Amino acid sequence: MLPTIGAWTELLKIGGTGRTRKKELRAYYRALSFNVLRKEGLFDFLVTPQSVQSIANRFGYTDIQFLTKYLDAYTEDEILIRENGTYRTNGIIKEFAVIAPDIFNPGLQQIASDGAAAIPDRLRGQYSTFSDEMNTFNWDDALQLKMYDHIRNAAFGYSGALKRRGKFIDVGCGNGVGTAAIWGKFYKRGAFESGNPMKMYALEYDPNLKQIAEEEFPLSVSRLFNIDRTIIDNLSPHYPTFVQGSAEELPFEDEFFDMVYTSQVLHWCDAERATKEMMRILKPGGLFFGTEAFYPMLDIYVELNVLLNEGAHGAIMKEEFIRWVKEAGASEVKTATPAGLFKVLKS
Ligand SMILES: C[S@@+](CC[C@H](N)C(=O)[O-])C[C@H]1O[C@@H](n2cnc3c(N)ncnc32)[C@H](O)[C@@H]1O
Repeated sequence: MLPTIGAWTELLKIGGTGRTRKKELRAYYRALSFNVLRKEGLFDFLVTPQSVQSIANRFGYTDIQFLTKYLDAYTEDEILIRENGTYRTNGIIKEFAVIAPDIFNPGLQQIASDGAAAIPDRLRGQYSTFSDEMNTFNWDDALQLKMYDHIRNAAFGYSGALKRRGKFIDVGCGNGVGTAAIWGKFYKRGAFESGNPMKMYALEYDPNLKQIAEEEFPLSVSRLFNIDRTIIDNLSPHYPTFVQGSAEELPFEDEFFDMVYTSQVLHWCDAERATKEMMRILKPGGLFFGTEAFYPMLDIYVELNVLLNEGAHGAIMKEEFIRWVKEAGASEVKTATPAGLFKVLKS
């Protein structure tokens, strides 16, 4: 009970209630997608009722399922009316005002609007990738957000990971700000002192983010914890090992790690494969923990933005996640809070 309360307290620091945040996010991503599709002429076309197929034919869209998801979301928000297998508007609709949530910094806003701009291509069957050169810089910026700190702190409070030692990996470490914060937490608890120091690894799919994570590690630790740089430099043998790779095919042998951590990564990849891979590299008795956007916490418009990316799973049903980890040898699975905190013990 106590770890759950602690986790909630940490998440409350993000500000707003879960419900107001979700509303804000929904309105923001809806406006971005709506304005892009409006520019395509979609809503002018829907002044007269049209079937999904006639919409697809008119605009050259090939992914009927993806198109239907948008049309149904707009219908749910009463922007469109669905009748007898057709969609229509109630007349001409103006552009939506785009109001970014105050927790979003310019990097995250750029990622969201670049995503929206990619919707027409995606409807024509052309996917984006998680990051191209430009997006890397936006992600580097976005991942500095306090929001990610609070989510991470909640995951650590909930899991009790800081009491454990051994080999640890941060899967999908992004720009490594989180990895540096985690390393610092363990450092403060004496985890790298002589005797039996723990060993950290961090894996990232995007080579540019992995490079940033590795190069900026000492600077990040020194800045985050206000520790003199020379002290950090002297600890270089204990820096994490940064590896470029995919969560879906982890370059580690079975049962290598005592702790496997991942935060806000699974929805970007083949979630079942990645989950089972993370369980595979965990020792019996080891801890697999982190955060994931379980359905329905991830709003449909945000999820559609994620699904623009090749190979992205989108929001995950908690039940399917629990089934995957059990199939991969979990003896105990716990989840908490809308931020999707989870902790799994391997038998
Ligand atoms: C929202 S960021 C979270 C970063 C970090 N875990 C944090 O909490 O600050 C998602 C990260 O997952 C990475 N990612 C996406 N697909 C991946 C995959 N298949 N394997 C490993 N990482 C992946 C992205 O490159 C990105 O750095």
